[in-house]
Amino acid sequence: MKILVTGGLGFIGSHTVVELQQEGYEVVIIDNLSNSSIEVLDGITAITKIKPHFEQIDLKDKNNVRQFFSNHSDIAGVVHFAASKAVGESVNEPLMYYENNIGTLVYVLQEISKLNFQNFIFSSSCTVYGQADELPITENAPVKPAESPYGNTKQIGEEIIKDTCKVNSDLNSIALRYFNPIGAHPSVKIGELPIGVPQNLVPYITQTGIGMRDQLSVFGGDYPTSDGTAIRDYIHVVDLARAHVVALQRLIDKKNDSNYEVFNLGTGKGSSVLEVIESFNRISGQNLKYSIVDKREGDITAAYAETSKANNILGWKTELTLDDAMDSAWKWEQKIRNS
Ligand code: WQD
Repeated sequence: MKILVTGGLGFIGSHTVVELQQEGYEVVIIDNLSNSSIEVLDGITAITKIKPHFEQIDLKDKNNVRQFFSNHSDIAGVVHFAASKAVGESVNEPLMYYENNIGTLVYVLQEISKLNFQNFIFSSSCTVYGQADELPITENAPVKPAESPYGNTKQIGEEIIKDTCKVNSDLNSIALRYFNPIGAHPSVKIGELPIGVPQNLVPYITQTGIGMRDQLSVFGGDYPTSDGTAIRDYIHVVDLARAHVVALQRLIDKKNDSNYEVFNLGTGKGSSVLEVIESFNRISGQNLKYSIVDKREGDITAAYAETSKANNILGWKTELTLDDAMDSAWKWEQKIRNS
């Protein structure tokens, strides 16, 4: 079976391509290389020994999208990652985010509606919850006004899919709300490749550990948490990738209860920033240099997933720990800086 992975050379996309190939799927990748590198294709191939078919297409080009789908009308499912994802950047470039994240989703859905198999997995985010009123966060938690255009594009994206599923019963869709993806493939052949100064915690930690950054700034030390630093649910990217395979299989096997389902993907455990630093120190043997500074605009205090829906309905749960993820992230950082 042929599966299209849009944004398949990105961080989560590439790890999902590996898991799909290892599950026996034929994978076709579309990526515009705006936030990824063609070398990732070699990394995927080195792991699976199967080179995915790749086409460099910008999904904002409606004609190219239409041409692609007419050349690949035998696609059995689409996993849609292609989107811009930097929260801070989205505040400064809202129109770029709405065009790139919403316009492209519409074009992909328009083309999927012409296929025999309309199975669609959407890359969403726990950011749709904002600061949830209750922890852990279930899929029934209210979606709150987005704190950034990036978060808004995820909320709008879910609404677009829901509305389309209402009028197109052939479209079978699952939205996966990721918590905080971290780590790298254990083979150390693919991993996260942040461009410029990392916005996210773990790549900033590993770049500090390797000497690229002087020290880590911990954004906020007086949150109402056990150690005063903010809490997130850090999920290993390989566990996250495996959830996509399980979700897609659910649609292909027509086991879905409705044609639009939502699942939280997290470990169910919250970790504070200081606990993440301690994880790095444990696995690296270093004593990471950091200083506690003011809170970052738009950050929430705490978020971690209630995972029983994904556990019981998808039959999926995380297998890897924070230390496993940190160990893989550190090994990846050392590899890319020493190669
Ligand atoms: C985690 C914690 C920071 C950097 C965002 C998006 C989410 C997803 C992941 C795309 C927070 C603290 C961070 C640093 C720090 N993105 N931190 N110093 O903000 O929870 O989630 O990225 O899919 O959708 O919302 O992740 O890694 O930026 O921050 O103290 O240099 O680490 O304040 O508490 P975040 P993050």
